[in-house]
Amino acid sequence: MKALITGATSGIGAAIAHRFVDDGHDVVLVGRSAERLTSVAEELRAAAPLVCVGVEQADFADLAQVHALADRLATRDAPDVVVSNAALVAPVAQRNSDGIPLTVVVNFLAPYILLRRLAEAFPNHASRFVVLGAEPAGSAGLVVDVDDLTYTSADLMFPDPDLQAFALYGHSKNMDVMLAYALADRLAGTAITVNGVHPGIIGQTGLMTGIPGLAKKALAMFGATDADLPNPSDGADTPYWVATSPDLDGVTGTYFGDRAEAATAEHTTDKERLERLWRSAAEATRMAV
Ligand SMILES: NC(=O)c1ccc[n+]([C@@H]2O[C@H](COP(=O)([O-])OP(=O)(O)OC[C@H]3O[C@@H](n4cnc5c(N)ncnc54)[C@H](OP(=O)(O)O)[C@@H]3O)[C@@H](O)[C@H]2O)c1
Repeated sequence: MKALITGATSGIGAAIAHRFVDDGHDVVLVGRSAERLTSVAEELRAAAPLVCVGVEQADFADLAQVHALADRLATRDAPDVVVSNAALVAPVAQRNSDGIPLTVVVNFLAPYILLRRLAEAFPNHASRFVVLGAEPAGSAGLVVDVDDLTYTSADLMFPDPDLQAFALYGHSKNMDVMLAYALADRLAGTAITVNGVHPGIIGQTGLMTGIPGLAKKALAMFGATDADLPNPSDGADTPYWVATSPDLDGVTGTYFGDRAEAATAEHTTDKERLERLWRSAAEATRMAV
């Protein structure tokens, strides 16, 4: 089996890559830093010398790099599993030239392009696409603005700009959940399945390190500190299970947490909202609807 894992240079993504190679599967690691990609690849090769570990560099903040990545991948053997895991929490004011916040670009528009392009490149190859979302109950109050990805008039609930960034991150994770459902609908009847997954609230990752002090403030909302939380290897468990379990052969359009189905809020499953978000993403990425 060959698994492509985005955001494989840190945290849960690196732990997922370890799970694959420990079980003898080949991996392609996608990351933005050549240095961090080399370091994780070396670690994996040392742990499992017989598996093939490839690396692909792409900064998801630059959507042209995501298209270039998709172009390169289209010339290689099809992946059997794609784990869409890369994400960040960036200040709301950090935006691309279209005014779309970096958090939405990296966490949602980049996987929108990559997964669509891979499905187009390998329409007949049996693949599982696994999209990392977030905790369904905690995200239930975050209703995605499906018509305006600039989020200029959205209410991000908190006066504190750091917590606004965290709220926007939550919105982007709901967009990922909606991407999984919408893509699963579009690929129904093909050999490709698409499911979403919550890895758990996991410590010792890099997710909130881009905004100093955010981790403490955000975790306080869950009544936790980083040290209390399960580690990235625990966080890899359900995503790896969704990616590989024979029990899930043919299962698509489902969200999972703790190795079980998990319902997400109605505003993330509503077909009309899925379609409107798909159209907004197509417009933002200049792709056909
Ligand atoms: N930790 C949690 O409690 C939790 C809870 C729910 C969901 N999740 C989800 O789990 C996934 C992994 O998060 P994590 O906690 O493991 O965080 P992490 O350690 O920060 O890992 C995120 C990965 O995404 C990569 N990435 C960030 N910005 C990128 C960009 N511009 N281009 C390409 N790659 C980029 C990072 O690369 P660098 O190494 O270069 O930074 C890193 O490899 C995310 O989708 C997150 O939303 C996490």
